[in-house]
Amino acid sequence: MSGFLSYRYREIEPYTAGEQPQDRQYIKLNTNESPFPPSPKAVEAVTKAAVEGLKLYSDPVSRKLRKAIAAFWGLDESEVVATNGSDEALALAFIAYCGGGEGIASPDISYGFYPVLCGLLGLDNEVIPLKKDFTIDVDAFCATKNHVVLANPNAPTGLALSLAQMERILVANPDRIVIVDEAYIDYGGQSCIPLIPKYNNLIVVQTFSKSRSLAGARIGFAAGQKALMEDFDKIRDSLNPYNINTLSERIGVAAVEDKNYLEACVAEIVKTRAYTANALQKLGFEVLPSIANFLFARHPKLTGKQYYLALKKEGVLVRHFDKDRIRDFARISIGSREEMEILLEKTEKILKGEIAL
Ligand SMILES: Cc1ncc(COP(=O)(O)O)c(C=O)c1O
Repeated sequence: MSGFLSYRYREIEPYTAGEQPQDRQYIKLNTNESPFPPSPKAVEAVTKAAVEGLKLYSDPVSRKLRKAIAAFWGLDESEVVATNGSDEALALAFIAYCGGGEGIASPDISYGFYPVLCGLLGLDNEVIPLKKDFTIDVDAFCATKNHVVLANPNAPTGLALSLAQMERILVANPDRIVIVDEAYIDYGGQSCIPLIPKYNNLIVVQTFSKSRSLAGARIGFAAGQKALMEDFDKIRDSLNPYNINTLSERIGVAAVEDKNYLEACVAEIVKTRAYTANALQKLGFEVLPSIANFLFARHPKLTGKQYYLALKKEGVLVRHFDKDRIRDFARISIGSREEMEILLEKTEKILKGEIAL
């Protein structure tokens, strides 16, 4: 620490992002990126003229992108704000709605960015344990007096709540904001976006980093009723008024308009997920029934760390969380079929002792 760091932030613990190592070529199954390139239409959007256009500031409201996202989801343009990745949407939502003395309730096992944001913003984080089977305790979230943030499907478990369960939480917390982080919704979950007209306390956050293969373009959005989005925009304009760069806006519009490509990529991941889960189970793994683009799995003969380290030595990266209750698990992103076959082949060798721990 420099000594200049503001006293407010001396205790913060920053988010630990998944490894992006440069030392060798890995099969990257650790950060839930897509194995497929972005839509060819998104690639075509990066023209020479578009790059030359970078000399000007981007549109401060990213109108074209908002319009395209709103059209995709059947929303009004006033119900969507585009953001620099969904992490920015989460940060802006926490700042905009959660500073009134209440804390934020989130599960003990979920996306690590929520407690980090609470720490940064000085908000109380009410930690509600997942149930024994790693599902979200809906009753406890109904009973909280705090705002709520939930990843649906949850990460790293991949387990999701139904729309009816989400509605129970929304109804039980009419004076509290419920932020639903749908980073992985396209792989099989039910989005809460259709509930927006019904609930004035609902904010849905999504990303283009996963199913749309655009993690590096940093595109996300928040959606909610018009009044909520006006407040959200006030905060965005106070922090980062040109939050979407011109190229990302063009890429994002092309990607969201290419629904066929999205559906083809998602279908392939869903197929490969079923194949991988089945093969891991045959090797003796317990695999949670994920509906995201990753699996959360443990083996009785291996710790999560042993498995992660043995795979890493072999050039396959998965994610291990050194945390109570989930220490034995590894989170494995679904890559291409070929990548998953290599993972499975290495896993079999690890279990047979042919790859040393
Ligand atoms: C649950 C969840 N929410 C949000 C994000 C952030 O995504 P991005 O900022 O790339 O949109 C991630 C990234 O892995 C995630 O797992």
